[in-house]
Amino acid sequence: MSAITSITAQNTYEVRAIHDLPPSMVVAQIEAVADDIGVDAAKTGMLSNADIIRAVAETVERYGFPLVVDPVMIAKSGAKLLRDDAIEALVRMLLPRATVVTPNRPEAERITGISIRSLEDAREAARLIVEDYGAEAAVVKGGHMQGEFSVDILYYRGRFYEFKARRVPSNTTHGTGCSFSAAIAAGLAKGRSVPEAVEVAKEFITTAIEYGLRLGRGHGPVNPVAWMAIPAERFRVLENLERAAKLLLERGEVVARVVPEVFINIGMALPTPYARTPMDVAAIPGRIGRYREGIIVPAKPEFGVSRHIARAILTVMEFDPEIRAAANIAYNGEVEEAVRSLGLVHSSFDRREEPPEVKMVEGGTTVWGVKTAVRRLGGRVPDVVYDYGEHGKEPLTFVFGRDAVEVARKIVRIAERVGRGP
Ligand SMILES: Nc1ncnc2c1ncn2[C@@H]1O[C@H](COP(=O)(O)OP(=O)(O)OP(=O)(O)O)[C@@H](O)[C@H]1O
Ligand SMILES: [Mg+2]
Repeated sequence: MSAITSITAQNTYEVRAIHDLPPSMVVAQIEAVADDIGVDAAKTGMLSNADIIRAVAETVERYGFPLVVDPVMIAKSGAKLLRDDAIEALVRMLLPRATVVTPNRPEAERITGISIRSLEDAREAARLIVEDYGAEAAVVKGGHMQGEFSVDILYYRGRFYEFKARRVPSNTTHGTGCSFSAAIAAGLAKGRSVPEAVEVAKEFITTAIEYGLRLGRGHGPVNPVAWMAIPAERFRVLENLERAAKLLLERGEVVARVVPEVFINIGMALPTPYARTPMDVAAIPGRIGRYREGIIVPAKPEFGVSRHIARAILTVMEFDPEIRAAANIAYNGEVEEAVRSLGLVHSSFDRREEPPEVKMVEGGTTVWGVKTAVRRLGGRVPDVVYDYGEHGKEPLTFVFGRDAVEVARKIVRIAERVGRGP
């Protein structure tokens, strides 16, 4: 639940106007939630004048819930969000009531008067905010520091904790501080200890920055949904691949006709923007081979186990992000005839046309070949791409689809028409 304190007119590069709500209206919003739903923890964001700060401090005191104070003073665009008298009010009235305070570097400098140039300075500032200003814990954030890692320093009950994440080279950092402090508050509400809540919040915000939304001319917003979407989508991909494998297995005696020497693999990627590397594509470890009259699926699907099929999928997704699954089956005249008679859209590539500089790159051929085949159709992703192979490279057929189940169905339909005799 949120209680609005100010309405801002802002975009990714500037704050154009600020309109503060009357303090009584802020209090009424907090009371409306607290008296009905209850509050396990809360966090403050922009509190833009001394009257609002006093009203919030008194209301929080009355209900006594755990409070994360994000001492918002300066927007990412550099705009000052707090007047000097308000800064004094915040330090005097809100910090002593805070379970955790989360200043960025300029804010920690403004509160403590320490100039922060090193982790040692950050530790000193965090300790002062607790010992001199009365907060229970302080996190001095590292977003405004330099270096390979973005390091946050927590001081809590006489101990320092360090939370480190690789600095994401991205300007999708609008809202990092807000989302980070909200995540800490959410952790406290769930009953996590302060260090645990900060640890999870750190992972959460790193993911949110990594998959931030590139929009606007300035700092694009972070993507807080990534934290939930990635595990959910990974689950859905694995589940879909298991269904696809089951479908192939049930028609094993037919599918066996199109198993190539290198075996079949079938893979599926996370949706965009989460599909970036072969680690974001799941497939069957050990691949699908012939066995007795049918086929064998040796293991459950896993992420990051197929480079070949993953590269093909990631390449077609650049043209059509909806096409997230592929498999490789045998290539021969009968497969080609089956594809034609089913009316499936097909294209192909010939490794002899591959530029020599691409050949040097490990795995480059699949990317180049699939791109060539898709471009041949004006950028439309076909159902099927033939790789005619070359000396020592078995020719193969790639089958594409929106998900693994769709690909499995196409394979069964093709295989049904192969090896039936004239
Ligand atoms: N480029 C980055 N890569 C990784 N982590 C980052 C990056 N920038 C910020 N962070 C992390 O994001 C969190 C928020 O820190 P930051 O210093 O950006 O807060 P802030 O300046 O208050 O943000 P805001 O401008 O949104 O209020 C911290 O955990 C920080 O380490
Ligand atoms: Mg901030």
